[in-house]
Amino acid sequence: MIADAVYDSKRKEFLGRDSTRWGKLAIFYFFFYFGLAGFFSTLVFVFMRLVPLDRPRYHGDASCMQARGKPLAPGLGFRPQIDAVDNTISVEKNQIDRYVKSLHQYLLVYYWKYDIDRFNQTKKFTISDPGDCTPQNQYGFASGKPCILVKINKIIGFEPKPGYMPEDEEAYQNAGCRPNPNAISIHCTGESAADTANIQNITYISENGHDKNCGSLDTKWFPYQGKIDRQDVYQAPYIWVQFNDVKPNVPIKVICRIYAENINYNKLGYRALTQFELIIKN
Ligand SMILES: *[C@@H]1O[C@H](CO)[C@@H](O)[C@H](O)[C@H]1NC(C)=O
Ligand SMILES: *[C@@H]1O[C@H](CO)[C@@H](O)[C@H](O)[C@H]1NC(C)=O
Repeated sequence: MIADAVYDSKRKEFLGRDSTRWGKLAIFYFFFYFGLAGFFSTLVFVFMRLVPLDRPRYHGDASCMQARGKPLAPGLGFRPQIDAVDNTISVEKNQIDRYVKSLHQYLLVYYWKYDIDRFNQTKKFTISDPGDCTPQNQYGFASGKPCILVKINKIIGFEPKPGYMPEDEEAYQNAGCRPNPNAISIHCTGESAADTANIQNITYISENGHDKNCGSLDTKWFPYQGKIDRQDVYQAPYIWVQFNDVKPNVPIKVICRIYAENINYNKLGYRALTQFELIIKN
């Protein structure tokens, strides 16, 4: 009988053990798990003491993200990005709020450059003349001239060198970036010639001012030094790319890439660039 197997009233056994044996078992497991928890905590403690607080143990040249023999190539990112897999920005009347909100939240993060041992607020990244790319202006989305934020991804200890790689010379000349010994350049084009023809009038808004050809990021924001006590106090510098004259109702594939003497661009490898699709619906 099942009832007997659960509780045997003759021998006073519950599930085959009497109270003394259950008690011994409980005591054994109490100390067993106590010991196990202690062992686990000791390992966690030792591990936490060994792991640096501000950066991964393996980074830069020691990182497994370092691609075989190639120079490091930081990726670029854009905002607004509604979710990680969708790179479409669809500007529609009454549908712009989510983009404005996404940009707003991104910019709310306070970022200070790590200054040896202090948070230095005087080094907060700002673009002093953002033009239309302000929250009051819905970052240009309301007027159909959206401002897209393009930023460089963080790589600990990486210092980009202004200029371009030898194989990028022609592309750099065609982009028409103004050489600046203290800044690296970002340039956006359509993915195809037809895409490029649909985005004729772009304004690049950087900390160094407005430009029709390229945006720039000052080298003073580099290198990224990691976190302070596991808190990120650094935000990568960014530019605004404002699309003033987009052919409506056509999806346009845009590629923004970065130029520097030590940044290796590779379209197939998705290195040193970001891609998004822009549609202005009316
Ligand atoms: C912060 O940076 C400014 C400008 O580089 C510098 O003059 C100032 O001494 C720094 N403050 C601290 C607390 O390090
Ligand atoms: C580009 O757009 C700006 C801002 O809307 C405008 O002032 C300028 O005249 C336009 N330039 C051309 C060549 O269309």
